[in-house]
Amino acid sequence: MTGKLSVDSIDALIEALAAVGYQAERRLATAVFLSLRLQRPLLLEGEPGVGKTELAKALSKVLDRPLIRLQCYDGMEQREALYEWNHAAQLMHMRAQPEGANPEQLEHEIYQEKYLIRRPLLQALEATEPGAVLLIDEVDRADAPFEAFLLEYLGEFQVSIPEFGTIKAACAPVTILTSNRTRDLNDAVKRRCLYQWLDYPERERELSIVRAHVPQAGESLAQQVATFVQRLRSAPFVSAFSRSPGIAESVEWARALVALDTLRLDPEVVQDTVGILFKQREDIAALEPMLETLLLPDPDAEPSV
Ligand SMILES: Nc1ncnc2c1ncn2[C@@H]1O[C@H](COP(=O)(O)OP(=O)(O)OP(=O)(O)O)[C@@H](O)[C@H]1O
Ligand SMILES: [Mg+2]
Repeated sequence: MTGKLSVDSIDALIEALAAVGYQAERRLATAVFLSLRLQRPLLLEGEPGVGKTELAKALSKVLDRPLIRLQCYDGMEQREALYEWNHAAQLMHMRAQPEGANPEQLEHEIYQEKYLIRRPLLQALEATEPGAVLLIDEVDRADAPFEAFLLEYLGEFQVSIPEFGTIKAACAPVTILTSNRTRDLNDAVKRRCLYQWLDYPERERELSIVRAHVPQAGESLAQQVATFVQRLRSAPFVSAFSRSPGIAESVEWARALVALDTLRLDPEVVQDTVGILFKQREDIAALEPMLETLLLPDPDAEPSV
């Protein structure tokens, strides 16, 4: 049921995700485990850069199922998400018919499967054993009609195509929806999903992610990065910023610091690289007067060698 590899416990899932580079906290792993067991979609909400999209990618590797991704955006239409007919090819088919051809027969012919262009949602329903991992990314960007259309899909893993009838998944796709919560999602969509809020990681997990992604950073620099970013996200500093850096930013920052041969964080190097942590001019300005305090040594840090 969960693809080639058997993931028969939450611990096994945490381990399997870690083996493909994704470090999941227990609560998240439990939600994923249940979503696999119950064959229910999982809705992940959280701040940007906390690992929502990455989880779907990691799951696809763990379960050895292809990842099928639907990136949502405002104005997205059903034909971009589900299917559309290849009108040009249908037209050519019609032109090739002798005059006086039977119109009913012709209609039957032009609505053959070979003229159907499958978009991600349909591809995921039709995926053969062991099925696909379907990522419906940033669903909050799509509009309300699209959400309404998703109801049948998420509830029963089926869709109705007027010319065909109903198509039901032989193998329910492992379905992950993500949202940055730019707006509240429809309650009916939420009811069809298991739900998990993804928070910023605690220091140890973030440190471990930085270590794993940027091994060149060395222990001391990785610790300084983790401490600095954790402090930025906590009181009293956090209230000065419009948004906090995510894990993605910590990893990228560590990479940049390595590229600059940094061994120790100091106000100058932070200012030189601040564009990785913050993308708002006001946030960058707010950071400057706090730098000395933010860079005080960390009592939690292991002594560097
Ligand atoms: N738990 C994790 N384990 C390992 N790497 C992680 C984890 N979480 C985040 N990352 C790293 O952070 C990067 C960004 O994560 P991701 O793109 O999944 O964030 P997101 O929550 O989807 O953000 P957005 O809302 O901006 O799309 C990943 O490419 C990965 O390098
Ligand atoms: Mg994402």
